[in-house]
Amino acid sequence: MKALVLAGGSGTRLRPFSYSMPKQLIPIANTPVLVHVLDNIRDLGVTDIGVIVGNRGPDIEAALGDGSRHGVKLTYLLQDAPRGLAHTVAVARDFLGDDDFVMYLGDNVLPEGVAATAEAFTVRRPAAQIVVHKVPDPRQFGVAELGPDGEVVRLVEKPAEPRSDMALVGVYFFTSAIHRAVDSIRPSARGELEITDAIQWLLASGAEVRATQYDGYWKDAGNVEDVLDCNRYLLERLAPAVAGHVDAASELVGTVVVEAGARVTRSRIEGPAIIGAGAVVEDSHIGPHTSIGRGCLVSDSGLENSIALDEASVSGVRGLRSSLIGRAASVGATEQGAGRYRLVVGDHTRVEVTV
Ligand code: G1P
Repeated sequence: MKALVLAGGSGTRLRPFSYSMPKQLIPIANTPVLVHVLDNIRDLGVTDIGVIVGNRGPDIEAALGDGSRHGVKLTYLLQDAPRGLAHTVAVARDFLGDDDFVMYLGDNVLPEGVAATAEAFTVRRPAAQIVVHKVPDPRQFGVAELGPDGEVVRLVEKPAEPRSDMALVGVYFFTSAIHRAVDSIRPSARGELEITDAIQWLLASGAEVRATQYDGYWKDAGNVEDVLDCNRYLLERLAPAVAGHVDAASELVGTVVVEAGARVTRSRIEGPAIIGAGAVVEDSHIGPHTSIGRGCLVSDSGLENSIALDEASVSGVRGLRSSLIGRAASVGATEQGAGRYRLVVGDHTRVEVTV
């Protein structure tokens, strides 16, 4: 079995971060979403992985290389424009050959993995095996109607009036039967070849499509709130480890990871939290649920439920909550006096202050 990981897409809901980095490289608990994805695929015993990239391909290649660091072999496949999930299967046609494969959206976070679905697919080999998850509002997802025995009756992409509460998770197992389906469908109203439509085409042509319900944690890390939510969830699963230096005047509470070369001085770190390699934290209160990236500088500040990306600096600001601070961004106190603010804010940035 091979894997096809989708890491194209423009990530408009994650601006401004997606202006300078592919959304699949946003760090969650200091590890890019895409690395969490590769780990899950490798855990299925699948190592031959095609990665669909768009114009941010070079960033993704620079971060993941040939995959050997993660125990997999990566082949990069360029999609010229975001023409839909099903279109990526056509782009990958030569790479996939006639092999079975798992298609995995590179922004989907499923910490409990998809081993049960892989097992069900391998045993029975339906044309497609999808993963579904019960959600309160399925209108922003593909929606599956299921029969009593786990068989799929109908699939609709983002229906205005969903007939079930089962959303399609972004992980799909296929035999080579999917290729004819992809070649047979037409673009949807949003102008894309939808994988949901290709699977519906399989159903309509009499092929077997089955579903496995995933009850674990699932998010597509597509906007700031969901990225912070994923960060909270994955931080909870870390094992405490202190490789960096923590001075006697600092206090670590709960599950805290301090990576090699980090220095924590006169600070309180409330887990779950992670302090990245080479970061400096002094006179500050970090956490809970906070990731400080590599090489960050945090002094005289307080961050809770937040992520600071690599090389960011925060100084003299207490009370930062639910914040996402970009690479090498700087957040600091103004010298213009209390109640005044000075902002140098980029396109599509969001600032919230209490006045
Ligand atoms: C895609 C699929 C949708 C699925 C979702 C899961 O949506 O089209 O069926 O439920 O991923 O993340 P998109 O992210 O392209 O809007």
